[in-house]
Amino acid sequence: MAGLFVTFEGGDGSGKTTQAGLLESWVTEQGRRVVRTREPGGTDLGLELREIVLHRRGHIAPRAEALLYAADRAQHVDTLVRPALERGDVVVQDRYIDSSVAYQGAGRVLGGDEVRDLSRWAVEGLAPDLTVLLDLDEAAARSRLDASRTTYDRLEAEAQDFHARVRAAFLAIADAEPERFLVVDATLPVDEIAASVRSRVETLLDRP
Ligand code: TYD
Repeated sequence: MAGLFVTFEGGDGSGKTTQAGLLESWVTEQGRRVVRTREPGGTDLGLELREIVLHRRGHIAPRAEALLYAADRAQHVDTLVRPALERGDVVVQDRYIDSSVAYQGAGRVLGGDEVRDLSRWAVEGLAPDLTVLLDLDEAAARSRLDASRTTYDRLEAEAQDFHARVRAAFLAIADAEPERFLVVDATLPVDEIAASVRSRVETLLDRP
């Protein structure tokens, strides 16, 4: 495909949104068209699913949760991400399949392989060219979140051991696919992180 697909992953409070925004600005300055988007909630249907999966009161079974994220992803890729890549745009996205593998696979203990297969089916195998993992230990992530807000969504409200499993899963995925990943220490200064992301993206944009 003509475009470039860059995803940002990491725990809640790791700074993905800030970094995705900085990358969007830089890529735009390079004269490339950028589509900045996120999961869950990158489409109209996705916004409804996001509301359910993050804010619905009452129990959601782990497999139902996994399917809701996969449904959001299927709609998002079919209607927004794949068309953008086919046009040659750069897609800068907050969260993708790795989030499901980490949160539903490891956090909810559904098993990473099955959850990955479900999402791969949902998106007909579309994989990112680059995934930036902003790594932050769960205690630091919690204190960042506590400093910035007073309410938490269903996933953020999970206990520290849930978030420890999520972090370990992200690191394991990155370890298994080093060519796809850039793993960055999320406690580094924002500008320093942005510079290392830019330099990695630059090499991909220069690819013939
Ligand atoms: P996000 O929009 O990144 O949260 P925020 O903008 O509030 O920081 O993600 C929402 C939550 O959904 C986050 O806690 C992680 C979770 N999530 C999953 O559990 N599985 C998934 O597949 C995705 C995409 C997100």
